[in-house]
Amino acid sequence: KCSNLDLIPVIDSTNQFLLDRVGQLPQGAVCLAEYQQAGRGRRGRQWLSPFGSNLYLSMYWRLDAGMAAAMGLSLVVGIAIAEALQTLGADEIRVKWPNDLYYKDKKLAGILIEMTGQTGEAAHLVIGMGLNVAMTDQEGTDIDQAWTNLVQACDDLPERNQLAAVLIERLHQTLTAYEQIGLDGFIDRWNKLDNFLNRPVKLLIGERVVEGIARGIDKQGALLLETDAGIEPYIGGEISLRGC
Ligand code: ATP
Ligand code: BTN
Repeated sequence: KCSNLDLIPVIDSTNQFLLDRVGQLPQGAVCLAEYQQAGRGRRGRQWLSPFGSNLYLSMYWRLDAGMAAAMGLSLVVGIAIAEALQTLGADEIRVKWPNDLYYKDKKLAGILIEMTGQTGEAAHLVIGMGLNVAMTDQEGTDIDQAWTNLVQACDDLPERNQLAAVLIERLHQTLTAYEQIGLDGFIDRWNKLDNFLNRPVKLLIGERVVEGIARGIDKQGALLLETDAGIEPYIGGEISLRGC
């Protein structure tokens, strides 16, 4: 059973909830949970999801342009979240290629987009977002990288209901715009929000490490890295970006 909005106290993963129900979901259907027993990040990594402290939100989106268009999607979703948080007074939020939100060089939120099957040209996607709202140091003690929360990033913390409503609305609008204008319409916005623009970074690509200066993104959503060889695009789910 499913509806436009499912609010669930305890769940394995809000992404999994929607993935299991794809055939029955209206466009933009949302699942929100208070606690995830098996919240997940990219490549099987864990997303720590303590009860009541954060926002765990997933949205179903049928992308008629198909999988090719799904490449730029996590970037566009990052922009949507950053801009939504700006409207709520958190104006120093930045994006990190390809799927994170940062505040003061610490991880504030992560995006995980998963796909289940295609019908014809359309791709069925679940867009998941984990946003740290008021997670305490004690709750986040097992996280093995620098993280932060909205309490730090926002002078005047909005109510979680308002936060969820603003994020859902902005996500919906942004996905609709992306279907119409593609990634082209978002590149300047990304570059304005990019946490690492013109900064030294390294890319971890399997066993390989490539160092250079981050120079934003191209029309495909690839990360542009400047090395001695010039500026080259990097794209693919196996790449992780780190500041130097
Ligand atoms: P990448 O650059 O490849 O995305 P990543 O380390 O950010 O690398 P992800 O898969 O995006 O990896 O996110 C999962 C990681 O995020 C976990 O391994 C952990 O380090 C961190 N993490 C887990 N839960 C949280 C949380 N609630 N807040 C912030 N960071 C978290
Ligand atoms: C990442 O940084 O790797 C992405 C983390 C995404 C976490 C969210 S929380 C809601 C949704 N359900 C999940 O199991 N994961 C995403």
